[in-house]
Amino acid sequence: NRYIPLPRVILHGDISYSFTEEMRHGTVIGNIAKDLGIDANTLSLRKARIDTEGSDKRFCEINLRNGDLIVSERIDREGLCGDKASCVLKQELMLENPLELQRISLHVQDINDNSPQFDKNLIHIDISESASKGARFPIEEAHDADIGKNSVQSYNLQTNENFFLGVGTNSVELVLNKQLDRETLQEINLLLTALDGGSPQRSGTVVIHITVLDANDNVPVFSQAVYEASVPENSLLDTVVVTVSATDADTGPNGDITYNFDHVSDEHVSLFSLNHKTGEIKVMGSLDYETESSMELRVRAKDGPGLTSYCTVVIDITDVNDNPPAINLKSLSNPIPENVPPGTEVGIINVQDRDSETNGQVRCSIQQGVPFKLVPSIKNYYSLVTTGQLDRELVSDYNITITATDEGSPPLSSSKSVQLSVADINDNPPVFEEQSYSAYVSENNKPGSTLCSVNARDPDWRQNGTVVYSLLAGEVNGAPVSSYLSVNGDTGVIHAVRSFDYEQFRSFKIHVMARDNGSPPLSSNMTVSVWNCCFSTFWCSVSLSLVLS
Ligand SMILES: *[C@@H]1O[C@H](CO)[C@@H](O)[C@H](O)[C@H]1NC(C)=O
Ligand SMILES: *[C@@H]1O[C@H](CO)[C@@H](O)[C@H](O)[C@H]1NC(C)=O
Ligand SMILES: *[C@@H]1O[C@H](CO)[C@@H](O)[C@H](O)[C@H]1NC(C)=O
Repeated sequence: NRYIPLPRVILHGDISYSFTEEMRHGTVIGNIAKDLGIDANTLSLRKARIDTEGSDKRFCEINLRNGDLIVSERIDREGLCGDKASCVLKQELMLENPLELQRISLHVQDINDNSPQFDKNLIHIDISESASKGARFPIEEAHDADIGKNSVQSYNLQTNENFFLGVGTNSVELVLNKQLDRETLQEINLLLTALDGGSPQRSGTVVIHITVLDANDNVPVFSQAVYEASVPENSLLDTVVVTVSATDADTGPNGDITYNFDHVSDEHVSLFSLNHKTGEIKVMGSLDYETESSMELRVRAKDGPGLTSYCTVVIDITDVNDNPPAINLKSLSNPIPENVPPGTEVGIINVQDRDSETNGQVRCSIQQGVPFKLVPSIKNYYSLVTTGQLDRELVSDYNITITATDEGSPPLSSSKSVQLSVADINDNPPVFEEQSYSAYVSENNKPGSTLCSVNARDPDWRQNGTVVYSLLAGEVNGAPVSSYLSVNGDTGVIHAVRSFDYEQFRSFKIHVMARDNGSPPLSSNMTVSVWNCCFSTFWCSVSLSLVLS
């Protein structure tokens, strides 16, 4: 059990130095000799040195000549102590002969050598334009390696309309102050600055890039409330009439517009097609000005989610001369008696043209060479009037052609034939074919023998032209003429009724009437001379020669 004496170690209380980090190499922190009351001249002899406890980091050393404690290595508070509130480095001063250990505490003070820093240079945030006022959007905080007031103290957001900054103990947020409108502003860049409290002050920035997301907050808008177009009635299929156009300020499906007819009648839908995507309206059926000259169609524009708006399309159909005039016979007196006076109205004609304006203005004419004319009456009506005396016995039927022509360009015309018959009037008496007639009675005439025949003509129609012959009453030698002669009412043949007494007469006259069967009847009278052939040879021969010649 050998007694080993403990080395004589003098332990003093700690001495501590407080200084700021990042001092230059060789900067004097304090004077060990003076602070410990040691003669500076002995330091060298006693091999004074700084020892490290455990770590091999020696932050300071001793100037053996004067006892100054000087910085020997870079002292970075943040590297050594991070965000600890106090940063104390333990070092030991060792002296030999006698052995002496002295604890030295180095209090490293923070200097503002770090700037606030954000994790990234750029922060992306997507915010819907439908976000309401007061909505909050957290932002990652900035960090500053320094501590205390050298760390981040405040934030500063670039002045802007829409956001202000909400800063809590552990949070930084953008707060929506005014609603966004993607259609006005699609992207916003805001500079956020974090500031520390050091002197001089340091700062760090980040750009907050905000993408405003679309919400379907816009209805489609037509470029016009009313579209007007006009198209000729004979337009070909697929002729473009008009194109309606609406725009929607939203994007994607929110701004995708489709067009449709809205409450349009089936007839109109069959006349026009509407391109759902382009809004082009084309002719699809046959347009007829005369059926409908103006149409009003309603068109609906709808975006993807279904916001709609409407416009009106007014289509005027313009007239084309596509209808010839139509001639209608409204009344006709047929047949017309041949004795009507000139100027008699025999028919009424109506002319229609379905076209409008000059295309529908019609002139009417009648063929030349007939005793008729057209007299314009009230609108579109004409009277067919005789211009002269008619005579059935000359012309009994008329085929009258009426022509109507419109004033379109080119003009269209049409014609119509009107058949007119002239009715008979008993206006012609029977007329004997000869100026005079003679009958000769020869010597031995027998009862019933033919003496001669008379013939009369009547050009009237049927009974008005049917001739009946008769003997007018008279006497021959005191006896009625009919006791000598008779006439066949139908044929006009004159017969002897009995044998003549030749000695009694040389000649005598009879009267024959030709009468028609009209009502009233017309007649002609004719004298027939009857000669006795054999009363004298002379007369006989003269008479015979007359007869034979
Ligand atoms: C009447 O005249 C027209 C034209 O000249 C002709 O086409 C038609 O056949 C005639 N009608 C009669 C019954 O003669
Ligand atoms: C004969 O003439 C009369 C007028 O005198 C007329 O009323 C009648 O219809 C005519 N008869 C025929 C068959 O034309
Ligand atoms: C013919 O004679 C008869 C009898 O005298 C008479 O009634 C009639 O009017 C006469 N006709 C003409 C055309 O003279």
